[in-house]
Amino acid sequence: WPRTSGRIEGAVTIGGVDVRDLAKEYGTPLYVVDEEDFRSRCRDYRTAFHDGEVHYAGKAFLCREVARWIDQEGLGLDVCSAGELAVALSVGFPPARMTLHGNNKSLTELEKAVEVGVGHIVVDSYEEIARLGYLAERHGVRPKVMIRVTVGVEAHTHEFIATAHDDQKFGLSLSSGAAAEAVRRILALPQLELVGLHSHIGSQITDTAGFEVAARRLARLLVQIKEEHGVVLPELDLGGGYGIPYVAGDEAPDIKVIADGLREIVTKVCESAGLPVPHLTVEPGRAIAGLAGITVYEAGTVKDVEGLRTYVSVDGGMSDNIRTALYGADYTAVLASRDSDARPMLSRLVGKHCESGDMVVRDLWLPADLVPGDLIAVAGTGAYCRSLANNYNYLPKPAVVAVSKGRARVIVRRETEEDLLRGQL
Ligand code: LLP
Repeated sequence: WPRTSGRIEGAVTIGGVDVRDLAKEYGTPLYVVDEEDFRSRCRDYRTAFHDGEVHYAGKAFLCREVARWIDQEGLGLDVCSAGELAVALSVGFPPARMTLHGNNKSLTELEKAVEVGVGHIVVDSYEEIARLGYLAERHGVRPKVMIRVTVGVEAHTHEFIATAHDDQKFGLSLSSGAAAEAVRRILALPQLELVGLHSHIGSQITDTAGFEVAARRLARLLVQIKEEHGVVLPELDLGGGYGIPYVAGDEAPDIKVIADGLREIVTKVCESAGLPVPHLTVEPGRAIAGLAGITVYEAGTVKDVEGLRTYVSVDGGMSDNIRTALYGADYTAVLASRDSDARPMLSRLVGKHCESGDMVVRDLWLPADLVPGDLIAVAGTGAYCRSLANNYNYLPKPAVVAVSKGRARVIVRRETEEDLLRGQL
């Protein structure tokens, strides 16, 4: 739950605002973001990595207002498409504090980044090195580039969000020598400034050992580069992936412990090889946005499937939160509009889409007196819910409301039928 959430008169409050009032004013389903929570997690990361950089990974959840918060809190921003870049530029986010990622950036995306002066471009293939070299020459600029290295770590997370083992699409492999070859190719192009190495081992990772192995391997590669080319690269970007607790009992890594551990490992490897300690960057997305957001739904059909469980259908589903269907994700949800002393009933919170996989929470206990019209709040939906939202079955995407100090305001308006029909001939 967000840091400022609580309960009064049986209702969930967030940022000092009663979700019943939010539902009445803005409708449901509704994404609610606790601005204080979001900003305070930005600060926690900045404090933990006080001698490095923190870049928020925009893919977790980006809109114009969030880009402003990130800017005001002094973080950098990771973007991975021209669209994300456009959102950030539209509110004057300084391009120098942005990094462009992606395993298949188009020539147009690369050109835009070069043109506006995006601070770092993380290259993901040999082709991209050649394209970037061409664009840099054409525009008479010398972009700062990093190499995304596949460090060969098996991150303990869902297969779809693990990214540092060799058999997947991201990065240039350390073990096969592709990363070293990328270094050679970039150094051969004077119009590109190779500033460092990058790795991102996956997402929702709670076991910190993987981050440490990745940091050690990248630091060793820095040493190798110095030995082979006499070049000292000044930066390491260790990516994001820090897990958050979704349900009771989930473990979440302590960011200060992670920061100290990573710093120590990199310092040790570099100092013992006589190399200066590189500047560290991390790219948390979920760990900043995830717990700041909740989704408020209205319960509709309540169907007791005799002897099994009760299916509680809400007015959204896999269009506003696809994580349960896609990764088997688990969430915490509660009756948010009143107190109830009724006995708990084994329930499944499902959406209104035409698929049986359309679940929001697979197994949960809800009070047995739940009725249509009750509000249900799902915690931990601030990351990868709105950003993965879709219009399946022509459902409009819900609004996003920011709450802070007892006030609420829309930061992304609810889609309308008109929005759904726009662009159709
Ligand atoms: N940096 C890079 C290069 C990334 O690819 C990602 C996430 C991040 C940073 C931020 O990772 P985070 O700190 O948020 O874990 N849709 C999935 C997550 C996909 C993550 C993709 N890359 C989910 O809902 O679990």
